[in-house]
Amino acid sequence: MIFCFSATGNSLYAAQRIGDATNDRIVSIGRALRNEEFEYDITNDEYLGFVLPTYAWTLPGAAAAFIERLILKGFSGQYVYGVFTCGESTGSEPAALFTMLRSKGIPLSATYDVVMPDNFIVWSEVPPPRKIEQMLNDAKTHLDGITASIIRKTPRKPDTAPPKDLYMKMEEVSTKSGTSKLHADGKCNSCGLCAEACPMRCIRLDASGRPYWEGSCTMCFACLHRCPANAVQYGNETQNKGRYINPEVDLNRF
Ligand SMILES: Cc1cc2nc3c(=O)[nH]c(=O)nc-3n(C[C@H](O)[C@H](O)[C@H](O)COP(=O)(O)O)c2cc1C
Repeated sequence: MIFCFSATGNSLYAAQRIGDATNDRIVSIGRALRNEEFEYDITNDEYLGFVLPTYAWTLPGAAAAFIERLILKGFSGQYVYGVFTCGESTGSEPAALFTMLRSKGIPLSATYDVVMPDNFIVWSEVPPPRKIEQMLNDAKTHLDGITASIIRKTPRKPDTAPPKDLYMKMEEVSTKSGTSKLHADGKCNSCGLCAEACPMRCIRLDASGRPYWEGSCTMCFACLHRCPANAVQYGNETQNKGRYINPEVDLNRF
């Protein structure tokens, strides 16, 4: 079984490549959070994977919230791995995942990371199409190596010292913190897809169908990148920037 969190499809792509080879089913952490599904049976599974994006060099708050509530039945020494996608570099995710799983009596066997296009467009730009193609080709080759290593059940012990931050904290939109900068501009056509895409259910629609944000936001930017009208913005920092969705996957209902 592979537990995957993915806002713009990179981690889903990684999970699918691995899952195709190991014959493992992928569980969407976003959907599990939306539906409050936290119990899974892995009795018949050979591998247990967590494929997650890097947020602020550690785990996304949403992924940590899921792992905290996860109830796994049938764990009997399966090969447990973490694969972290990132725009540039990973940080303490291996130690964070190790720490979180250890508290559930599940030892992490190995971790891997893979660079893919960066979706945190506050600090970066979406790369030009040719660069994206090249990055995805490199990622594919790298993922094939990772998959081979997973199938061989190669031990790759992660750093086990608990990190400073187990995950990037989720923020209450109402506190006027960073996440309160999310809003829809005049291009919004009230289609409501942002609310559907939000793994945290923190987008509501007003009487005219326009979104507003409330509650705990994990800053995944699914709303911003997946808005078909490019109407979702983060402060004044994203109006002139491109949007990114991994072209190899279908994120519908993920
Ligand atoms: C809030 C946030 C924080 C991020 N922090 C990092 C980071 O610390 N290092 C990094 O290399 N990439 C960072 N990224 C980029 C993502 O890890 C990367 O694009 C990832 O592949 C996205 O996965 P997804 O398409 O499955 O959502 C960040 C993205 C977001 C939204």
